[in-house]
Amino acid sequence: MYYIEDLGKFVGQSITLKGWVANKRTGKGLAFVVLRDGSGFCQCVISQDQVDENSFETANNLNLENSIEVTGTIVKDERQMGGYEMQAESVTLLHKGPEYPIAKKEHGVEFLADQRHLWLRSKKQWAIMRVRNEIIYSIHRFFQEKGFMKMDAPLLTGNACEGTTELFATDFYGKEAYLSQSGQLYGEAMAMAMGRIYTFGPTFRAEKSKTRRHLSEFWMIEPEMAFYDNNMNMVLIEEFLKFVVNNALKNKKAELEVLERDIEMLEKVNNPFPKIEYKEAVKILRGEQDVNGKTSIQVLEADMEALEGRVAEIDTEIAEREETLKGGNIKKGVRNFNQNKIDGLKNELKEVNEKLENLPQWLASAKNFKDGEDFGGSDETVLTKMFDSPIMVYNWPVGIKAFYMKELETDPNYVKGVDVLAPEGYGEIVGGAERETNEDILKRKIKEHNLPMEEFEWYLDLRRYGSVPHAGFGLGLERMVCWICGIKHIRESIPFPRSYGRLMP
Ligand code: 4AD
Ligand code: MG
Repeated sequence: MYYIEDLGKFVGQSITLKGWVANKRTGKGLAFVVLRDGSGFCQCVISQDQVDENSFETANNLNLENSIEVTGTIVKDERQMGGYEMQAESVTLLHKGPEYPIAKKEHGVEFLADQRHLWLRSKKQWAIMRVRNEIIYSIHRFFQEKGFMKMDAPLLTGNACEGTTELFATDFYGKEAYLSQSGQLYGEAMAMAMGRIYTFGPTFRAEKSKTRRHLSEFWMIEPEMAFYDNNMNMVLIEEFLKFVVNNALKNKKAELEVLERDIEMLEKVNNPFPKIEYKEAVKILRGEQDVNGKTSIQVLEADMEALEGRVAEIDTEIAEREETLKGGNIKKGVRNFNQNKIDGLKNELKEVNEKLENLPQWLASAKNFKDGEDFGGSDETVLTKMFDSPIMVYNWPVGIKAFYMKELETDPNYVKGVDVLAPEGYGEIVGGAERETNEDILKRKIKEHNLPMEEFEWYLDLRRYGSVPHAGFGLGLERMVCWICGIKHIRESIPFPRSYGRLMP
């Protein structure tokens, strides 16, 4: 078998590729078929005077997603994706079938979501899944090379780790059980046995609302380290995120190009991550404290001004191009070119106007932010706008964090939690903490959180026999995929998303 991603090794040779028709154009005596085989895309040029009659006829009748086999010579062509092209010698149809339901024209997102099993074949989804796979691979490499042990935490559990509101209940031989919200508590037990571990598994949260950041089933990576405090935890998180992003940048260039990802924005991951206490983050958000001479209010106002400027520019350009179109006898090419530009500008205008509409609300939310509360999506976006990389917010108010986080020795109203906020509006991608090690404090916390003590007896044992400082964190894989790929909605970050109202396909 030959695969498109290996074409570089076969320049000048005749080989056979098997795949599906991703695109087709025909010209006089010519057919151009873009073949995809999962590893990449390759244009095959089928020329009437180079192939037998049958092959040419087959090529001309091909429809989207027909499966085919093409034999031909590989030539270098820098203009093509991947850099190669095939000069076909023969084309064989493997399977045809009726017309493919996803045409090239724009489809609504609900339609595409219903067709997810087919939508996955499109170039953008292909690119996202390839980046996702790279991320998964780097995650294992990072921890394995450091000597962490991969552990598999149970998915059926009797306890709530992250609060009781988002549990999926199920029947376990007549007893109520829950689908795992987090492998952390089991990870802690395993860290006491193995030192440093990581879990990487499905995680379930009943989230009765549709947002672009939440899934009901997602994949979480949860390392847990014995003898780590929260500072060591933060150092590890930063090293880990830099490693994963840099590997995607290095190894998935073509895919990021398909996704039109702004690489410069991603490269900012290499700047040192600012580490900000929650209290300070509140001041920055409210505009009471500046960052590099600018307050959040000034940054948002400058944003607004820039967007208004852009609206004016777009309006002028559209008017000019419409004027050109009005002129008599202009060439078809020129007409199409201008019309395409106008359509593009109108789309941009819509996006810019949406942003402009949101900004006053963001500003109000930032200015009036109540100390002690959790940051909302827009607050996270505003905070990260102030810096040139992801940021870490640590030492959180006890009232908004999970029971297991360790209280500060200096002030029990705060706990040693840490969240990482990704830039460009991607929000919280990591949540972690140093864990409470004191049995009595933990018991009090379990009561305060209205959790059933008997389900936590085994967990309390970890504090009874050789309790040690330890810390860990959780990275949401799909949030990471969204950020690296630059995609706006989490539903495209996983092969078959499960979210409120979506269980099919
Ligand atoms: O902040 P969370 O809830 O932390 C925990 O579960 C801890 N037990 C982790 C630990 O310390 N071992 O979740 C961690 C991350 C979030 O930062 C986010 O990236 C992701 O998991 N996440 C979700 N991703 C998609 N959909 C959801 N509904 C998510 N909820 C959390
Ligand atoms: Mg969190």
